[in-house]
Amino acid sequence: MMTSAQIRQHFLDFFKSKQHQIVPSAPIVVKDDPTLLFTNAGMNQFKDYFLGNKKPVYARVADTQKCLRVSGKHNDLEEVGVDTYHHTMFEMLGNWSFGDYFKAEAIAWSWELLTEIYKLDKDRLYVTVFEGDPSEGIPASTIALAEWKKLIPEDRILFGNKKDNFWEMGDTGPCGPCSEIHVDCRPEEERKKIPGRELVNKDHPQVIEIWNNVFIQYNRLKDGSLQPLPMRHVDTGMGFERLVRVIQGKQSNYDTDIFSGTIAAVEKITGKTYDAGDSKQAISFRVLADHIRAISFTIADGQLPSNTGAGYVIRRILRRAVRYYYSCLDYHQPLLYQLVPLLARQFENVFPELIQQQDFVSKVIREEEDAFLRTL
Ligand code: SER
Repeated sequence: MMTSAQIRQHFLDFFKSKQHQIVPSAPIVVKDDPTLLFTNAGMNQFKDYFLGNKKPVYARVADTQKCLRVSGKHNDLEEVGVDTYHHTMFEMLGNWSFGDYFKAEAIAWSWELLTEIYKLDKDRLYVTVFEGDPSEGIPASTIALAEWKKLIPEDRILFGNKKDNFWEMGDTGPCGPCSEIHVDCRPEEERKKIPGRELVNKDHPQVIEIWNNVFIQYNRLKDGSLQPLPMRHVDTGMGFERLVRVIQGKQSNYDTDIFSGTIAAVEKITGKTYDAGDSKQAISFRVLADHIRAISFTIADGQLPSNTGAGYVIRRILRRAVRYYYSCLDYHQPLLYQLVPLLARQFENVFPELIQQQDFVSKVIREEEDAFLRTL
């Protein structure tokens, strides 16, 4: 079975072979963009290239970006742990074209990587394209449709509306129509009863989006209008944890080797067992395995928990985790900080900033846990 580390490396190697420069993740904490508290997509660090405010050094880049979707336009916090495929912090694998290649290459390469390198079953894949929006003067994505038709039978291509197929970074900023790739992970018998195409974008836990290919063509202005950009760009984002789950053939992101180490550590610390179900106890394991990542990497990137702004978001995530272990795992001492060394080692070669500050991060988390446990 491919490990998560191999899966990540295959992504980077594939785009390197297509002349992309591999760049590091930007920090998860955003200091220089008043429209964002945290990086919520791989494209954030490239916003000025899309808008034409800065000239890119490379026309093609790829990376894995630490993202956090817990505030603003993209906020998944309440789902996290309750379901098996949303996260606070997640890795977004992305490839970008800054005024270079466009829809044909982006679509063909995403298909090549998924089906030839990762060897996903083509019959389980569905794609969506934008149906257009006359009220905003945006046409249907006929080019994306034509490109997909070269690769996939037409009954696996679905049209989607603005909610699903027009991606925007926030209330303002670069945006454009997108084409998503979904995978149906249900068992064969269930697939025979209901075709996967009926479950795409319907919040089914086994029929999930894995990759979004955005074709950045507009800037959304403060007054709500769309201004066409001088150049056209590609911005893609693949949910790493979901991809690994699909490739490793698991029912839940938490059953992959990305989270299994942390879950085993929580079992050892608390003496309780994780059964992957829907009980409060199982949710607690998932919440802890998820939240420790968001908390640790955010602190490592320079954001301390506090009472305002980004610091308050981190404090809220930390307290959500404490409440779960306190109430549902009967554990009444600081727990999260004990997971930091394990996480730091796991990500040593991907995001080395954590291992470099491991003691500091553990100390900050422990103090926060102590203080909150006293109030509980
Ligand atoms: N920006 C898009 C997203 O976040 C694709 O990277 O889904």
